[in-house]
Amino acid sequence: MQFFIDTANIDEIREAASWGTVAGVTTNPSLVAKESRPHREIIEEISALIDGPISVETLSLDSLGMLKEAHEFATWSPNVVIKCPMTIEGLKATKQLSAEGIKTNVTLIFTANQALLAALAGATYVSPFVGRLDDIGQDGMALIQDIRTVFDQYYFETQILTASVRHPQHVLRAAQLGSDVATVPFKILKQLYSHPLTDSGIEKFLADWKKSGLSTDA
Ligand code: G3P
Repeated sequence: MQFFIDTANIDEIREAASWGTVAGVTTNPSLVAKESRPHREIIEEISALIDGPISVETLSLDSLGMLKEAHEFATWSPNVVIKCPMTIEGLKATKQLSAEGIKTNVTLIFTANQALLAALAGATYVSPFVGRLDDIGQDGMALIQDIRTVFDQYYFETQILTASVRHPQHVLRAAQLGSDVATVPFKILKQLYSHPLTDSGIEKFLADWKKSGLSTDA
């Protein structure tokens, strides 16, 4: 499973990129709005930091508007993936963009049927929002399992991009279920690296070494 980082914050992306495990970036209008900077400038800066796919979301509600935005976004970086919402208009735009060879990410997926439709429209990625399903008392990870079953049944190449990740258990389950990608907020990505026993283990090793009087270059 690949990790993408779910943020539009350049400092977070720069830091996470230096860790060597981030393969791409996902943004959405809420994340970009938090940065209070021109959209294009943010995406161009991300593109200088990350070689992989960068999802950029359209704002129009009609397919023609989405296509217009998509063609503009595609000039910002060769890595741009166009995020369209899971609506009839979004799928119309996805189908057209896929015919043009432009990568797409169909977002706001809440059922396996929606994922199936997006795959049939030629989506490169589908983004099921697991945390938002948990928020309304449903089982977000069950959706990942359902989509994996459907996609495997028909050999769809569309990748499952687990989104709306809220804690490390979502990440582990996504990997166990065969999600192709998990897009993870910076804070949670950082949590994945840590364990208190790793920290105390390092402290103990160093303390024992110090006590022994051995040199560190031995
Ligand atoms: O990028 C979309 C997504 O990951 C949203 O997450 O936490 O706003 O539900 P959240």
